[in-house]
Amino acid sequence: MRHFISTRELSAASIFNILNTAEEMRENPDLFSGNYFAANLFFEPSTRTKMSFLMAEKKLGMEVLDFQMESSSMAKGESLYDTARTYEAIGADLLIVRHKHDRWFDELAQKLSVPMINAGSGKRDHPTQSMLDLLTIYQEFGSFNNLNIVIAGDIKHSRVARSNAYALRTMGANVYFSAAPGFEDDSLGIPYMSIDEACEMCDVLMLLRVQHERHATTSHDTSSYLVNYGLTPEREQRMQDHAIILHPAPVNRGVEIDTGLVECERSRIFKQMENGVYTRMAIISILLNEWGFDHEHITEKCQTLKV
Ligand code: CP
Repeated sequence: MRHFISTRELSAASIFNILNTAEEMRENPDLFSGNYFAANLFFEPSTRTKMSFLMAEKKLGMEVLDFQMESSSMAKGESLYDTARTYEAIGADLLIVRHKHDRWFDELAQKLSVPMINAGSGKRDHPTQSMLDLLTIYQEFGSFNNLNIVIAGDIKHSRVARSNAYALRTMGANVYFSAAPGFEDDSLGIPYMSIDEACEMCDVLMLLRVQHERHATTSHDTSSYLVNYGLTPEREQRMQDHAIILHPAPVNRGVEIDTGLVECERSRIFKQMENGVYTRMAIISILLNEWGFDHEHITEKCQTLKV
């Protein structure tokens, strides 16, 4: 793979390679290092993705070129394409891009001669989030085969739901959705269940943020959303003993999840964030290696890695 754009293109072997490399990166961050330059081009707000990419790049010994959309020449009308080409011309070896358009990468992927990683594209893809979610599940269960995983919440506006649905099905999990009326998306052919059914049968409950900023109108009263469609303490009590809770965050506390459950025993929400650093280190190192960039410290093992 030349770019890391979507989970739709990933095989099970590629995903396992990323997860295993992430675990190796946690143990030995020096597995890959080199004097590379990364540009983190975020055109939408971010805390976790942007900062964990920054941490991953620093741990890999990379230099990071600054980008602030408001003070860049995009404020003078420069396009994404010209901005990306500029960073390439200046010497960036890798572009990390988050953008509101579902397919921002189409034109760039054909024309750029440096690798790109999708850090979130509209409502379509968030593949690095998906890989850190899968790592968190893999650490817990050691396998994906026949795990019952329910993705619950604002499916319609969620790139996390789409990326995870593709990746989890590839890995052999049983994937279900749960959504309030108006938040469904039937295009993936995934069965739906109520949040009550979901809590009782799932091994993994992956909650999604209600994405108010992507709604044309506010369609749900947030005060009743938790009781009708979210994870309340009563529902959490009915989950199986071994079941875990995931959420990509940021969390709307008291909307999709009761605030007291965000850090409860079965929550892995902050573990997901920690895993994001190692997962992104793995994806960066695999991709740079795939492009054949020379570096001094790469091990024999890393040279065999492929996405
Ligand atoms: N989960 C996630 O993408 O969070 P940020 O928007 O803070 O990056």
